Amino acid sequence: MNFFLETLRVILMCIYYLLEFFLSFIFARKKNIAGEIVLITGAGSGIGRLMALKFARLGAVLVLWDVNLEGNKETARLACKIGAARVHEYICDCSKRQEVYQVADQVKKEVGDVSILINNAGIITGQMFLDTPDMLLEKSIQVNTMAHFWTVKAFLPAMVASNHGHVVTISSAAGFNGVNKMADYCTSKFAVLGFAESLASEMLAMKKNGIKSTIVCPYLVNTGMFDGCETKWPCLLPIINPEYAAERIVSGILRNERYILMPRVLYFCNVMKSILPAKMVDVLYDYFGVLQVMNRFKGRTKMTED
Ligand SMILES: NC(=O)c1ccc[n+]([C@@H]2O[C@H](COP(=O)([O-])OP(=O)(O)OC[C@H]3O[C@@H](n4cnc5c(N)ncnc54)[C@H](O)[C@@H]3O)[C@@H](O)[C@H]2O)c1
Repeated sequence: MNFFLETLRVILMCIYYLLEFFLSFIFARKKNIAGEIVLITGAGSGIGRLMALKFARLGAVLVLWDVNLEGNKETARLACKIGAARVHEYICDCSKRQEVYQVADQVKKEVGDVSILINNAGIITGQMFLDTPDMLLEKSIQVNTMAHFWTVKAFLPAMVASNHGHVVTISSAAGFNGVNKMADYCTSKFAVLGFAESLASEMLAMKKNGIKSTIVCPYLVNTGMFDGCETKWPCLLPIINPEYAAERIVSGILRNERYILMPRVLYFCNVMKSILPAKMVDVLYDYFGVLQVMNRFKGRTKMTED
């Protein structure tokens, strides 16, 4: 194809997809996921648990993974209580490659091929970089990043074979903004964002357009993970209600949204960060309270002790 025709084709496609994007706000087409096998890592509490309950109501087959036996059991119990068709819970430390592969094989035998994979398990240490023990730095990367490699390796091949599936990556607003006292966390969340974009690009190159990708980047969600953190201007950057976060994520998955940033002001911040002078961005970070956000961080005390 010559340069002129190719350029014209791309311009027309861009206009089409721009229109499709704006129309999607009015005519929200949602896919039916009844009977689909949905695996959620970190399903034993917080956003993972709430998403599981929403998928249960939509008729999905649930596969729940967590290191926390009690939390995972409780999620399964709640899902059954609201009428989930099938719920399968597994103890799995997603940071351990062999354990992920072993439990994944068990899931394939006992439940079937996972078609919606939600990499949600996460931890935060919340200390200044130089004060963070090496072991915790490594753990953050193993849980928040490497775990995505192992689960995708385990479940993507079946999606590719059937050209059907969805990989959901729970990153963070800290996945495109460096924040003090979050060096390891930000590193891990930037990394999964890059990983998810690269995977989506590989699917595009392989013409596997039946495999969708959703990358989720929330600001603070009130689940306990970031206990103690405060937002400077709640009217501009509110702390998100977990129920709202889970609802927004599930509805974004059903609409095959590529990126979900919460609250919406983050879309604007993301663009501004790319085009404004660096010193101006520093002033704005300070204004938005990004430099102080972790000052009173307590987090999940049990997790820190472990
Ligand atoms: N809460 C927030 O403010 C916030 C903001 C942005 C992004 N996120 C991300 O959202 C995701 C869910 O966070 P949440 O707020 O629900 O936290 P949460 O602490 O309530 O849930 C995390 C779950 O992951 C599980 N988990 C931890 N390590 C694991 C491992 N090695 N293997 C398996 N499971 C493991 C925990 O047991 C827990 O059930 C995380 O990836 C987090 O980084 C949270």
